[in-house]
Amino acid sequence: MTGSSPPGAPHAFPKRVLGVSMPPIDALNTRMAQMNAAGGDVISLGQSVPFFGPPPRMIEAVRDALDSFGPRLHTYGPDAGIPELRHALARKLADFNGIEVDPDSQIMVTPGSNQAFMVTMMTILQPGDEVAIASPCYFSHHMAIELCGGVVREIPLGEESGFQMRMEEVERVLTPRTRAVVITSPNNPTGAVYDPGEVALMVRELTARGVYVVSDEAYEVFCYDGAKHVSPASLVDDAELVISLGSLSKTFGMTGWRIGYIAASAEVCRQAVKVQDAMAICAPIVCQVAAVAALDHMPAYPLGMMGEMKDRRRMLDAMLSETPALSWEKTHGAFFVMLRADVELDGRDTAWEMLERVGVLTVPGGAFGEQWSGFIRVSFGSPPRDRYEEALSRMASFFGVHARR
Ligand SMILES: Cc1ncc(COP(=O)(O)O)c(C=O)c1O
Repeated sequence: MTGSSPPGAPHAFPKRVLGVSMPPIDALNTRMAQMNAAGGDVISLGQSVPFFGPPPRMIEAVRDALDSFGPRLHTYGPDAGIPELRHALARKLADFNGIEVDPDSQIMVTPGSNQAFMVTMMTILQPGDEVAIASPCYFSHHMAIELCGGVVREIPLGEESGFQMRMEEVERVLTPRTRAVVITSPNNPTGAVYDPGEVALMVRELTARGVYVVSDEAYEVFCYDGAKHVSPASLVDDAELVISLGSLSKTFGMTGWRIGYIAASAEVCRQAVKVQDAMAICAPIVCQVAAVAALDHMPAYPLGMMGEMKDRRRMLDAMLSETPALSWEKTHGAFFVMLRADVELDGRDTAWEMLERVGVLTVPGGAFGEQWSGFIRVSFGSPPRDRYEEALSRMASFFGVHARR
């Protein structure tokens, strides 16, 4: 606690905390719960949670571990993660991402990849250092940078280019204080998969100037229409300044198990592990055991879900073609789309209106940067199939009524 104000007085908190607001999805979820508790029937297209759960074999492996793993399951493990998981991740990184790392010194398992990002920022930033992120942005990145005393530099991306991030746009926001540039591809909230040639250019140019590339690859398996995810660390011989962040959350439908990781240079990992020790010590051991079993099914398990994802995306596209008030510059990854909403609605945000009037939860574009308030983010990957179909038909009728005339 700083200052002499009574505990709880707002001005007793530091600016870097007070300046950060909670993402609006929280308030929307609370309202949805109220509506449902009062007998409502709200469908969420707001969550970044896939419709599927983890591989059944993962659950069996956890059951077995409860019997066989012994006391190791109930005590702290190594800060950087249990060796079995670090080795499984190193194999996955080599086979799926084309990244060669030493499992003993270049991987750190974290309780979810949001924490991997926070740990990274805490590890590399000095107060006032700048971090460039795409706009629209994933709000947790924005929050973490500011909470760590960094300054966010937004890279405004164009809807007309399908929200592609290019070196040309990055260049405009670089300053001598730029410490890192964040690449999130496939992207939340836009669904953009960045052009591999541009990713290669960005990683070469930035690392040559001593700027870290922090690559968030949480949606790496979700690509459509031939789009290809590439891992920046696989594109350069010297990946010393590339920090790859991964997550098992979406890939294996296990957001609640909280397993993510950092793959980076041994020096970054050596520093980052101090932050992890102070924050969490280690990720929960039982979840790490689960993650080892899940990785046995990489990439067949998540790829087996792509038929359904593609179908949902096609259904969304069909609804949009009959709903002139909504438009989508097609993107090719993750399970989100940012839709431009051309509507006449007085005052309140479209997403809130839609929630109240037809019981469909989406995320207001303003959550991803003020200039995106004319958009809504829709997750097509989350609800059960029948609920998704119902949500699309409610959306079509809502936007049919509220189209700008
Ligand atoms: C781009 C991006 N990165 C990271 C995360 C966090 O994932 P995890 O569950 O691993 O913390 C999310 C979650 O929605 C995300 O959208």
